[in-house]
Amino acid sequence: MTGRDIELLIVEDEEAAAQATAERLADAARAGAEIALTGGSTPRRAYELAAAREADWSRAGAWWGDERCVPPEDERSNYRLARESLLDRLAHPPTIHRIRGELEPTEAADEYEGELGDTQVDLILLGIGPDGHVASLFPEALTLRERGRRVVAAEPGLEPFVERVTLTIPALCSARSIVFLVTGADKAEAARAAFVDEPSERTPSSLVRAADGPTLAILDRAAAASIKK
Ligand code: 6PG
Repeated sequence: MTGRDIELLIVEDEEAAAQATAERLADAARAGAEIALTGGSTPRRAYELAAAREADWSRAGAWWGDERCVPPEDERSNYRLARESLLDRLAHPPTIHRIRGELEPTEAADEYEGELGDTQVDLILLGIGPDGHVASLFPEALTLRERGRRVVAAEPGLEPFVERVTLTIPALCSARSIVFLVTGADKAEAARAAFVDEPSERTPSSLVRAADGPTLAILDRAAAASIKK
């Protein structure tokens, strides 16, 4: 599946969605993949289950799709979420490529773009917001038009209202594969706009599909409620 194609995997509940996501993360880690993690609160359980399934991530690389501009120990940090629920639980952690949220946003973006270089990311895990945002690309933001850079600084469109650093649309779409994890009734309208409706800058997640590989959306029934099958 390539281009605009997306496969929907609709499972019973949040736990089953976390399980399906964890399987994919653990398989990628075992295969030594470059894996970009997502933030927000949804992935926590998937990270815990992925760590339990596979404790040796030593051949893999861990990247992030976006970060909030806060220090790594701040409870809003996407890195902190992954550290607590995944990285600290592994016997053999991956090579960690953290976005340094403690820096000034444009400096952190420049540094991360340098670190990313021309790395081929194998798997990007993404969430979506109730407004349809993805990573830290918010509805109608100018950052959605960025074509030259892989990483930019961004303004928040939703809580937490701290500046962000985010991969751009071309960077997200250049991953070999993309997995969206979306759960909960508050995401139902956004999920339809992201995965079924025509792509639009009003729904940034609708613009993200792997250009040359599979895109999978894992949803629980509540998040899939507005999607007619
Ligand atoms: C971030 C994210 C963001 C997130 C969605 C969903 O830093 O905020 O990476 O894109 O995935 O906002 O977040 P929740 O899981 O908290 O709903």
